[in-house]
Amino acid sequence: MSALAQPVAVTPAAELPRHFLDLSDFDRATLRRILDLAVTLKRGGGPRAPLAGRTLALLFEKPSTRTRVSFEVAMRQLGGHVTVLTDRDMQLGRGETIADTARVLSRYVDCIMLRTDRVRKLNELAANATVPVINGLTEASHPCQLMADIMTFEEHRGPIAGQTLAWLGDGNNVARSWVHAAVRFGFSLRLASPESCQIPPEMLEWAAREGGDVTFTRDPAEAAHGARAVITDCFVSMSDDPGRNSHAALAPYRVTPRLMQLAAPDALFMHCLPAHRGEEVEADVIDGPWSVVFDEAENRLHAQKGILLWAMGDAPS
Ligand code: CP
Ligand code: NVA
Repeated sequence: MSALAQPVAVTPAAELPRHFLDLSDFDRATLRRILDLAVTLKRGGGPRAPLAGRTLALLFEKPSTRTRVSFEVAMRQLGGHVTVLTDRDMQLGRGETIADTARVLSRYVDCIMLRTDRVRKLNELAANATVPVINGLTEASHPCQLMADIMTFEEHRGPIAGQTLAWLGDGNNVARSWVHAAVRFGFSLRLASPESCQIPPEMLEWAAREGGDVTFTRDPAEAAHGARAVITDCFVSMSDDPGRNSHAALAPYRVTPRLMQLAAPDALFMHCLPAHRGEEVEADVIDGPWSVVFDEAENRLHAQKGILLWAMGDAPS
């Protein structure tokens, strides 16, 4: 039966809200269920307007192009409504607590997405909301991006389980979600970063405890060797203190055609965007035949439809 053949019902009040905070919170079957919903919707399947009458609040404490527009368009295409707020628009910016904001918004809307540079705020929102809360990026992770990225890899290269991928550069929020994804989707991930901005060792310990295959090296060529995808992100993230990441230290991790040639012959280049040509990636790579970056951006729309429907619908958890 199609993933969307059943009607989508309002989540019963007694059930805990289906928050989407981190990939590490889920088992593989649930993540697959969400991706199956996304693929079905992308192919034009499923009922018309399954989220008619529902409202999503999008809260931004940091800038966004893709996350904001893809969530807005996704919700509208699913028949629902959106309200977009920044901290400057809300009493949050004048000291109202996150907990009170969560309780109030839960009386008006059916789902809340938050982008913040304090994961503590996301957790407080989720702890106090009675509707699902979605992580739209924190300084610690970016799980919606990863759902789109897994979908993109699989569209181009088939099942990701058992593959080897490489992350080069800053061990930032997106890198951490790649670690979660590697463990939950069952692929190998090689990370290469300078000492000054490597992923926290606890992340590697978590991956090992969970039975994942996530390894770390200082050598970008070693990480890229034979990989089915080479992935990177900006040198400086929105939540970084100015000067935290040295461009000189990160320069050897810039993705160049030479590094791509060390990867598998059919290797993909992936980047969540926004990109900085000449910093973390050379133009010949991101604008060349390896690159699937605009497919990743498009799939934010489809993957988030799967997340929204799972969070507000009656898909099994
Ligand atoms: N990749 C991503 O989240 O982009 P935005 O910052 O534009 O939302
Ligand atoms: N690591 C980047 C991702 C932007 C989508 C940042 O946090 O700024």
